Amino acid sequence: MGKLLYVCCIMLLLLQAGLASKTRHFKWEVGYMYASPDCEEKILLGINGQFPGPTVRAKAGDTIHVELKNALHTEGVVIHWHGIRQYGTPWADGTASISQCAINPEETFIYRFQVDKAGTYFYHGHYGMQRAAGLYGSLIVEVADGEEELFHYDGEFNLLLSDWYHQSIYDQMVGLSSKPFRWIGEPQSLLINGRGQYNCSLAAHLMEGSSACKLTSKDCAPVVLRVLPGKTYRLRVASTTSLSSLNLAIGNHKMMVVEADGNYVEPFIVDDMDIYSGESYSVLITTDQNPSSNYWLSVGVRGRKPNTQPALAIVSYQPNSPSKLPESSPPVTPKWNDYNHSKSFSYKILARQGTPKPPSYADRQIALLNTQNKINGYIKWSINNISLALPPTPYLGSMRYRLKNAFDTSKPPENFPSDYDVMKPPKNPSSAQSSNAYVIQFNSTVDVILQNANALADNVSEIHPWHLHGHDFWVLGYGDGRFEEKDDSKFNLENPPLRNTVVIFPYGWTAIRFVADNPGVWAFHCHIEPHLHMGMGVIFAEGVDHVRRIPKEAITCGMTGKMLMNNNLP
Ligand code: C2O
Ligand code: CU
Repeated sequence: MGKLLYVCCIMLLLLQAGLASKTRHFKWEVGYMYASPDCEEKILLGINGQFPGPTVRAKAGDTIHVELKNALHTEGVVIHWHGIRQYGTPWADGTASISQCAINPEETFIYRFQVDKAGTYFYHGHYGMQRAAGLYGSLIVEVADGEEELFHYDGEFNLLLSDWYHQSIYDQMVGLSSKPFRWIGEPQSLLINGRGQYNCSLAAHLMEGSSACKLTSKDCAPVVLRVLPGKTYRLRVASTTSLSSLNLAIGNHKMMVVEADGNYVEPFIVDDMDIYSGESYSVLITTDQNPSSNYWLSVGVRGRKPNTQPALAIVSYQPNSPSKLPESSPPVTPKWNDYNHSKSFSYKILARQGTPKPPSYADRQIALLNTQNKINGYIKWSINNISLALPPTPYLGSMRYRLKNAFDTSKPPENFPSDYDVMKPPKNPSSAQSSNAYVIQFNSTVDVILQNANALADNVSEIHPWHLHGHDFWVLGYGDGRFEEKDDSKFNLENPPLRNTVVIFPYGWTAIRFVADNPGVWAFHCHIEPHLHMGMGVIFAEGVDHVRRIPKEAITCGMTGKMLMNNNLP
């Protein structure tokens, strides 16, 4: 009898757990489609005929099940779930040549993974430059049933920011790998939830009633945030730009930053916020301004001399008509090269109390020098003088099954020459391509020092937002110039923020720490699409022997991968 009661209890518990977390099913088809995201018609990558792709909403603990069909005629595709750590499912990370083979045209791949932590995330293509062709969408994870958010709000809005080029990604890729090099230039427009206005200042247009903006297509009508006076709203902001670093501000309203990359931060108040590609934030705004007016939300370019109009949205206090013109002009984006402004924003981001603290020391330190180089006259980006070239057979399968000749097994350097002058162009700009990977002891703690430097031209050093797959990391500190051994005494071990993306400022360094506790092969790279395409990334592999149940279709491509086809995989 007692035993029966026990069994019943267990079954009840299981049932409860089953009820609390759901599996959410999606059936998607990726295809090219016509759209006019900035009022000019182009083709782009959509999902089920939508651009941006459908928003995925789930609760912490849920399982996401996406049946992804590649409906492109002649190219492969994959989708990466940016910010989701993929514990136990490294094959679902959606990185071509790293976690899986690109999905062939007409074929379907199933992504099944758990979203374990509430926060603001997104997904995007991770093959060639497909993200820049429009393959992206939002992924919002709410707190689990029965749990409460740490802060109160009355409503929320989701703003997915991107930049948009009229030139196709093929044109862009050919230019980047041509001699002479052809740079992609600045984007034609900035998009908010896939909408922008090319070559038209919306504000000026509406104020003067000029006809410069052809707002004929509903694809490019500005986003409207309908709010009620006297309330608090959560804005979820994420950036999936190809190139641009952005700044967001709302006329007359302050913002309180509460979340960064799916982790709570110690709340702080700002007038404007920077956001780099790969980052996400939640900010709270209070609608405490004159309710008879509407207000502009403006998004402009930072860190590069802008040649793109700011994107605008309208915060409309109800019951005002959304077409009622805001009384004050749109907030002005801080000067593009005011890096002190950017630094002061980054330095304010600290972990909220209760955030797990980093281990107090690291088992290994890897210093990564980011340089611009030349390989046989082609311009590339390199890390410790190696430009990443991905192998045909994905690392995950070839490492797990110890395939021979699948990638370069030499050890990438842990450091760079101590006499390298980061303030000057490289003395010898030549470099080499490789597919080698950093193999990391399972469960060890790793520090990475990202060191920025001067590019090929004099007096140029760019912003690079670095993104780590499979992990959150602690941001231990930033500094100007070259990192010195003694700088680690200044690391913040008290309340460093946990993030998945962090910026390195021009001529500066950024230090991060993470625990290699997630068996798999993970990309760590600059989130600027053309930079990654030009080799700006590295590969970390950890605990690969612990990986189980890799789907066959994720690994059986390339010469070596095909050898697995007839083998019986365990
Ligand atoms: Cu959102 Cu590997 O990137
Ligand atoms: Cu970069």
